[in-house]
Amino acid sequence: MQIHETIAGLRAALKSAGRIALVPTMGNLHEGHIELMTQARSHADTVVATIFVNRLQFRPGEDFEKYPRTFQADCEKLAAAGVDHLFAPTETEMYPQPQTYHVVPPVEHDATLEGEFRPGHLRGVATVVMKLFNIARPHVALFGKKDYQQLMVIRNMVTDLNLPIEIVGGETVRAADGLALSSRNGYLSTAERAEAPRLNRLLTKVVEAIRTGNADFAGLERQATAELATAGWSPDYVAIRKSLDLQLPSAHESGLVVLAAARLGSTRLIDNLEV
Ligand code: PAF
Repeated sequence: MQIHETIAGLRAALKSAGRIALVPTMGNLHEGHIELMTQARSHADTVVATIFVNRLQFRPGEDFEKYPRTFQADCEKLAAAGVDHLFAPTETEMYPQPQTYHVVPPVEHDATLEGEFRPGHLRGVATVVMKLFNIARPHVALFGKKDYQQLMVIRNMVTDLNLPIEIVGGETVRAADGLALSSRNGYLSTAERAEAPRLNRLLTKVVEAIRTGNADFAGLERQATAELATAGWSPDYVAIRKSLDLQLPSAHESGLVVLAAARLGSTRLIDNLEV
């Protein structure tokens, strides 16, 4: 695997790369990332992973500084997964001057769910992903479904701005007890880690209720939120939304997804399940 710190270096290496698949990450790689790398291979001749902890998508007071940086271990995992190129730029390479132009999702995508609780997060993601697309010029790019809203925003950005890139969503990879794999799981104490699968269990319960005909979406959201709070979590939201655009569904609508975000101790976890 070739490692590139500069945009010029990556571009030169990709000159005759054929069909390119890009898998952007912030590092601290787990099985979910590796699954995307493996999937990427079936879409392209050349697989490019990126590791860049993007300051632009963190709000002041969030975990940018303490976000786990495990570069050596990540490189070993990527090489073992057969990745051809790793782009791991410095902050000055990506942001030689403060970023002035941004990709701003429309308010209905930007100010709901994650956007409501992490204002500016999604435009930070869209902006860095657009930069990575322009740097690597991939034919296909892969993102995990765990960050469902992020994936929706990227899909819409690509369509709206006519980018010639196929977007592929990878299924969420889970621990045996159902907890969605996430770099932030490492923040959990032993007791919190034992409690954390409750989030997935609750989402499963909501999905089952919808599948068996319960169309009282507001009631289901309220009940799940209350159950989290009773178990000691600080829920941001449990929301039943249309999977295509994450807008509010009407009763008995199909194509739904149940999304949740909640804090367990000081760790904010997110998860979702398609109905
Ligand atoms: O999902 C992530 O790891 C990040 O949001 C991404 C897509 C790499 C952009 O920084």
